[in-house]
Amino acid sequence: MIRREFIKKLIKGFFALTATVGTIIIAWFSYPSGIRQKKYTFFDLMDEEALPVRGVKRLDYLFKVDQLGSKLSRDLAGVVYIVNNTRKIYALSPVCTHLGCFVTFNRHKNEFTCPCHGGRYDTEGVVLGGPPPEPLTRLPLKVENGKVFVGFKI
Ligand code: FES
Repeated sequence: MIRREFIKKLIKGFFALTATVGTIIIAWFSYPSGIRQKKYTFFDLMDEEALPVRGVKRLDYLFKVDQLGSKLSRDLAGVVYIVNNTRKIYALSPVCTHLGCFVTFNRHKNEFTCPCHGGRYDTEGVVLGGPPPEPLTRLPLKVENGKVFVGFKI
């Protein structure tokens, strides 16, 4: 009888350990290692005076390889939205959290919309509707010596 209980506990322990280890392995591999290990690199995007007094400003950026030093072997181009909601200034990534399309800002509705599946976000990046599972990503922003720097994972 004691032996039977011991074997039952041993089997339960084995399955519990297997489930835990399996979950950790799945979580590890489902989050790309490239993103996992990358840190933010700050780039000078604009002068402080060019910050929006209020509302949303789209910034198209292009960094040439020679500006980036040895970090990249290609130019880095993209879009970022700078938002001033009168309480704070922050940067939002335009990448939709559903399947990665680029959102655009609709001034009339005062919201970001995704052209792919109708995802909608408010100016804080919070999901208003559609399939996106998470808010837009906030990128770190800092102002130093009259310059606005935004952090990107490259
Ligand atoms: S990719 Fe934006 S809603 Fe699907």
